[in-house]
Amino acid sequence: MLGFFRDGTTLVCDGVRLDAIAREHGTPLYVYSAESIRRAYRALDEAFNGYPHRVHYALKANSSLAVVRVLADIGSAVDANSIGEIELALRAGFQPSDIVFTGVGKTPDEIDRAVALQLKAINAESAGELERIDRAAQARGTRVRVALRVNPDINSGTHPHISTGLHVNKFGVPLEQARAIYRRMVSQPGLQPVGIHVHLGSQIVTLDPLQKAASMVVRLAAELREVGVQIEYVDLGGGLGISYDGSRVPDASQYASAVLPILRPSGLAVVLEPGRLLVGAACALVTRIVDIKDSPGGRQFAVIDGSMTELIRPALYGAFHRIEAVTPRDARELPYDIVGPVCESSDAFGQDRRFAALEVGDLMAILDAGAYGSAMGSNYNRPPFAPEILVDRGRARLVRRRQTLDDMLALEQ
Ligand SMILES: Cc1ncc(COP(=O)(O)O)c(C=O)c1O
Repeated sequence: MLGFFRDGTTLVCDGVRLDAIAREHGTPLYVYSAESIRRAYRALDEAFNGYPHRVHYALKANSSLAVVRVLADIGSAVDANSIGEIELALRAGFQPSDIVFTGVGKTPDEIDRAVALQLKAINAESAGELERIDRAAQARGTRVRVALRVNPDINSGTHPHISTGLHVNKFGVPLEQARAIYRRMVSQPGLQPVGIHVHLGSQIVTLDPLQKAASMVVRLAAELREVGVQIEYVDLGGGLGISYDGSRVPDASQYASAVLPILRPSGLAVVLEPGRLLVGAACALVTRIVDIKDSPGGRQFAVIDGSMTELIRPALYGAFHRIEAVTPRDARELPYDIVGPVCESSDAFGQDRRFAALEVGDLMAILDAGAYGSAMGSNYNRPPFAPEILVDRGRARLVRRRQTLDDMLALEQ
């Protein structure tokens, strides 16, 4: 068995006990299953088997080098959202032709570096940005591959903070403007339009909006072909959700079955930018209970040593994560609020969760912490960045050590 499961009573990652890892490296800490990442990648890649496609892992979900290298080793490409992510991808071994560069508000330095690198494509967010890319390309005497990000005004049904495909969202350009912008590109000597990009948002758990977006970009590609603009591929972005609470959500093969019939008649290759789908379920944040006290609701607060600084999703979006005792004791179940130590009432991981009686010192695992966990980590209240452990083929390896106070203060004078 792979991933997180119980070996007897104790929670393990790919067969390695979480309590042993916590004893060696302290808490809080992130534990990743390399094989879970590979499994998720293969499921998506194989679902599109037989159709020209390329998976560009969205680095923003988790750009820890060891995680990124697992994906590099099995043939993924990447989607970068800043020059920092581009440089990281190069260090992880990706070629510029493996990288698409998305992002609202690219700076002149970022554009210039991206132009110099000759990436697979820059996903442009506006007509103004395309003009700046064109100028940067001409200054270097080159032509740059670009895709325009289209905002389709489709409601993906996800949390408003992570919805990106509605007109009120800041991303891309409305479809009505996209045609004219593509036509203009023909007369911009620094630009080579190669793709159409769309991304509706994150943690999307219904296929209908994703199908609508696919239909829209395929239609746009056909219209462009009629006016002489020939693109190579459509980039459907990322966004497919995972099940945080055990409820059924569409999987990679259902997603492929939903969009392939739309893509196939176009013959256009497809780029996919999954983040959460590949790494979300591959990590547990392992924490220790530091205090237990009564709460007025007849429950108890169990205060853990991990917080919104390691996993901000519950505080930011009210997101649900399963929480499990690493080794539950044989005792009566009681209701608990699992909270972190940060000085914010939103620093809470779960309300009214039932556990066999907990005690100070117990290890608690917060599951599905691989996406937008470590990547959104902070030093708020000055905890050090937590270490990261990658379990691979039965071996637990420290891939990021715990930050020290000196590390934390290194930039300060
Ligand atoms: C342009 C783009 N592509 C891909 C992703 C990855 O999304 P997810 O992790 O939901 O797959 C994001 C994140 O929202 C994004 O903004």
